[in-house]
Amino acid sequence: MLFFKKKSKHGMQGKIYVGEGAKEKYTEGYNRLKDNVLYMNADGNKKVIQVESAVSAEGKTTVVCNLAVSLGLTDKKVVVVDLDFRRPRTHRLFSLSKDNGIAEYILGDADKEKIIKHTAYKNVDLITRGAEIYNSSLVLVSDKFKSLIEQLRSEYDYVLLDCAPVLQVSDYIHISKISDGVLFLVAYGQTTKTEVADAVNELKKNGANVLGTVFTMYDRKKDKELSNSGRYYSYGYRYNDKDVEENKD
Ligand SMILES: Nc1ncnc2c1ncn2[C@@H]1O[C@H](COP(=O)(O)OP(=O)(O)OP(=O)(O)O)[C@@H](O)[C@H]1O
Ligand SMILES: [Mg+2]
Repeated sequence: MLFFKKKSKHGMQGKIYVGEGAKEKYTEGYNRLKDNVLYMNADGNKKVIQVESAVSAEGKTTVVCNLAVSLGLTDKKVVVVDLDFRRPRTHRLFSLSKDNGIAEYILGDADKEKIIKHTAYKNVDLITRGAEIYNSSLVLVSDKFKSLIEQLRSEYDYVLLDCAPVLQVSDYIHISKISDGVLFLVAYGQTTKTEVADAVNELKKNGANVLGTVFTMYDRKKDKELSNSGRYYSYGYRYNDKDVEENKD
């Protein structure tokens, strides 16, 4: 389990906190996450990673993009694929256009090379959503989509999938069929235990391989207050491959 501190000042969208000249207090968490991801993939079988959370605004897009930059800096070739068709945001963090992405490739006739955007960060490419996608299941179950992911798997060291929240959009069911595992995010002080348990149960019920938990927006001060008052869990989440039942408290 990893913790990402709450950033006191942040805008309406995430930011790239890692990379050259970044402050150590921000890079530290992403470096640890990157090391865990490298370790998990020691056998080369955990390359396509699906990033999920129970509800929205838990930091998925921020973690996906920063993890990509962090992996890129260690000479890993990474592609971020924006599979949050409802609220695609990865292009904003990389200051790139959303145009020409999954929609144009799967539903139109754009070439694969045309939809891969190079970001300003070393070794990091991006595939955006592109135009609006009205029937996400149709795209996600298509042979063309599955074949795209397989091609990316063979061309990159990591394929990071930014996804919509589990309890709000059912796309995770299809995405977990093509990913090697799920990084599950929990926003400290926001997501309830019931939401976390429901989302993890949903993922597991559909055969997803939950690789680990990332705790975002962690506030040490608040954690102390809440645990002293006995009203809140402190360092309480641990899912991975253990029974969810054990972790309810
Ligand atoms: N560690 C953090 N501390 C505080 N705020 C954060 C942190 N990480 C992200 N945020 C902020 O939280 C908001 C949501 O972040 P982000 O867009 O990454 O979440 P998301 O899970 O992808 O949301 P959505 O489900 O809507 O796509 C943004 O305003 C972002 O700046
Ligand atoms: Mg997002």
